This record gives sequence, C-alpha cells and structure tokens, in this order.
Amino acid sequence: MAKAHTRRAAGAEDAGAAPEAARPGGAPRVMPGADQTDRAALTALPDRADQTDRAALEHLDRLPAVRECGEILVIDDVTGALTATGLETGRVVAWQTSRRAAEALAERFPQAIEAGRLVVAGLDPVGPVPLEEVAWASTAETALVRLPKALLALDHRARALARAAAARDIGFSLLASGRVKHMTRRQNEVLAAAFTQVEAQRGVGKSRALLATGPRKDLEQPPVMAGQAQVTVRGAAETIPLCGVGGVFGGAAADAGSLLLLASLDEVVRGGELDAVETAGDLGCGNGLLTAYLLRALPQARVVAADDDADAIDSTGRTLESVWRPEFRDRVELRWEPSFRGVPDQSLDLVLLNPPFHDGPGVDPTLVQGLLDAAARVLRPGGRLWMVHNSHLRYRPEVERRVGPVRQRVRDRRFTVLEAVSRPGPAAQR
Ligand SMILES: C[S@@+](CC[C@H](N)C(=O)[O-])C[C@H]1O[C@@H](n2cnc3c(N)ncnc32)[C@H](O)[C@@H]1O
Repeated sequence: MAKAHTRRAAGAEDAGAAPEAARPGGAPRVMPGADQTDRAALTALPDRADQTDRAALEHLDRLPAVRECGEILVIDDVTGALTATGLETGRVVAWQTSRRAAEALAERFPQAIEAGRLVVAGLDPVGPVPLEEVAWASTAETALVRLPKALLALDHRARALARAAAARDIGFSLLASGRVKHMTRRQNEVLAAAFTQVEAQRGVGKSRALLATGPRKDLEQPPVMAGQAQVTVRGAAETIPLCGVGGVFGGAAADAGSLLLLASLDEVVRGGELDAVETAGDLGCGNGLLTAYLLRALPQARVVAADDDADAIDSTGRTLESVWRPEFRDRVELRWEPSFRGVPDQSLDLVLLNPPFHDGPGVDPTLVQGLLDAAARVLRPGGRLWMVHNSHLRYRPEVERRVGPVRQRVRDRRFTVLEAVSRPGPAAQR
C-alpha cells in the first residue's frame, strides 16, 4: 500500500487484480477460495432497495459527477440495489468486505460482469484487494457506502477513498448511509478527518445519509492498530505482536477467549500430544493470533488460516509479517473465504475455532453451526477441534452432534474451551 500512486490510463477492470506488492505482508499466499461446493449457502441478495439504500439513492442526482463520469464505486452493498442503480447509468466498481457478499453480488449481476460494466474487486483472480488500490484504478468520482458498524472501518474506508482521490487530483463525493439508531456524531467526525465537508442529508424513514466532499490532501494511510498477546509457546513465555485493520474483530487486541484456549492447548502441545499434527487450521482467523501461535508451537505443521472478512485477512497478513521467520513462509496459507470452503475434506489434523455468537445484540446459534460443520468436514477422522465459547452458552451437545465426542478442557467464569475428536464418516451423515 505504500506504493506511489500515479494516475493510470488503464480501465477499472484492473481493479480486480491484486498486485503482489499490495497484499498484506506480501509473503503469505492469499488463495481465492475457488471451490464452489457451498454455493447454496451463499447469502442471497434481496431483490429490492431497503430504506438505507434509498436514503443514499435519493440524493444521488444531486451529484453531477455521477452522470458525467459514468462510473461509481459501491462499497458494501448488502442488497444489490446500489449496484443496480449504478448500472442503470453506467459502470460500477464494487468492493465488499465480506467474501460471501462479494460473491452474492457477482451472482446477481453476471451479465453486467460479462459485459465489463461491473467489477467486483477481489473475486478474480485473487483477493482481497486494498480499497485504495481499487479506488485509484477506477475513474469514479462518487462512492456509495453502507456505513460499517465499526468507526475504525469507516475511518479506513474514508481515508482510502480520499487518498485515492487526492492522488488522482479529482473532486470526490462519498455518500454513506445507515440506520439512524446506529449513527453517531463520531461518524461525522471520522468522515471530516478525511473530507473537508460533511453534511447530513434528509432522512428516509429510519435511515439517513451523510455526504462527504472535498478529499483532504496529504492524508496518512488508514491506521494499522498495533497490539500484542502474552502467551506460552511450549511452556516458554512469548509475546506475539498483533496488527488490526479496519473493522477486524477485536482490533489488535488479544481476545480473552482465545488466550484461554491457547493456554490450555499449550499444555497439550508441551505434553507431546500434538506432535503428529501435520496440518492445522484457524477457522475465522481475525487478527491472526491463533495462526501465529500455531506456526510457532507446531514447527512440523502446515497451517491454513481463513476468514470471510477482508479486514481480517489484511490483519492476519500483517500479524504474520511481524512474527515472520523465514521458516514460516512456506508453511502458511491465507484464504479469503467463508467456512474453509476451498479446503479439501478430511485434510486437517487440528482446527482452532473462536466463532462469532452474535449477529447484532442477539445470539445467533446458526453462526456456530455452519462453522462446526465446516470444521467437521475438513478434519480427518480422529482429528481434533479446539473451540472456545462463552460459558453462559451451552454448545457442548451441538459440538458433539456435529463433530464428535467432546471433552471440556478448561472453563472459567467467562469462557469454556472444548476439544472434540472428529468421528469417521462424511460430515453430512453425522
Ligand atoms: C470471534 S472472531 C475470532 C477471531 C480470531 N480467531 C481470534 O481468536 O481473535 C470470529 C472471526 O470469524 C470470522 N468469521 C465469521 N463467520 C465466518 C465464516 N463463515 N467463515 C470464515 N470466517 C468467519 C469473523 O470475520 C471473525 O474474524
């Protein structure tokens, strides 16, 4: 990302390619998740604009650059309506944080992709692509953005777009919409750090858009958060530096549940019980803490780390770079994909999982179920799943049913760590 930007003549098709130098850390291979096996599980996009889309679209006509330049950027389009509107008048370059959402968009508009009128960044050939690269390669002077939940994610998107616009020496408008109940003054301030003017627009129902114009010059790159984790690796105290980008879970902080899992796992590693592990996986790698531990603690093992979230892949890449040792380079594979989709069945000896339990304020058990099924599928018979969950949730029967016999390794007031041994037979028949 430190690459100097000069305006290119190339079209926005190039936005889909991830230049080697742009990938986090440069070194870990980022695989595309090409396997199509769980197509049916992809998020289907609803057919029509929701209120939050309409809060942005209502003001689109006021932006002359949209009509004149014929191309817009669309960031985190969750319904497809922003893209559909952009395609009515021209070309769209879309950037989605979630790989599933990126694929859902591509599935919704195959003809536009075929005709070169829609580019979904990162899908072809290998993603994710930094947003700044995408914005810089596009001719668009407007971005429609679904406001992210995390302020740090908004800061990341706003700075990336403003920096690209400043490098292209153009005016640029960012129209970001969200539900009023989730909007705060801090969002205006974050946008105002990257743009000279920020105005709230008239609301539509319970949603509203913020219009940011005038990208600031000489902006710093989006910040990379820095933190660290104190762990024991084969009994010896070690510090693992962590990096966090945008809206990655936990930023650059070590999650307390993951630390409990690692403390318990390290006793088993030290006892030699995992010496035969040749392949290990970190399912939902976030900022890369568990992956970094696996690389250090199991010198004989190959490690695959995957996350559906582009910020997580960026963060894990940077964390691995900071714990880099030459011998790690060929042992790790980083995948932007949901649920280990491209990882072959029964190919891993060990999977670590710290799954999400909440979708918004409520507990959503289906989030864990899909990840348990993914773990069961990729584990070889006899392979082990180590999972941490909040102690007040009862996941043991679910893990037992979907993966195999369970043993509770440790439990404290907040977290419980379970180990399950994968049963023989196809995961679907368990
Ligand atoms: C609770 S965080 C744990 C992150 C990290 N492993 C840690 O220990 O700090 C869960 C992670 O799972 C990712 N995730 C959620 N659903 C996923 C899915 N279906 N496939 C891959 N990753 C997923 C989220 O993006 C998030 O980074």
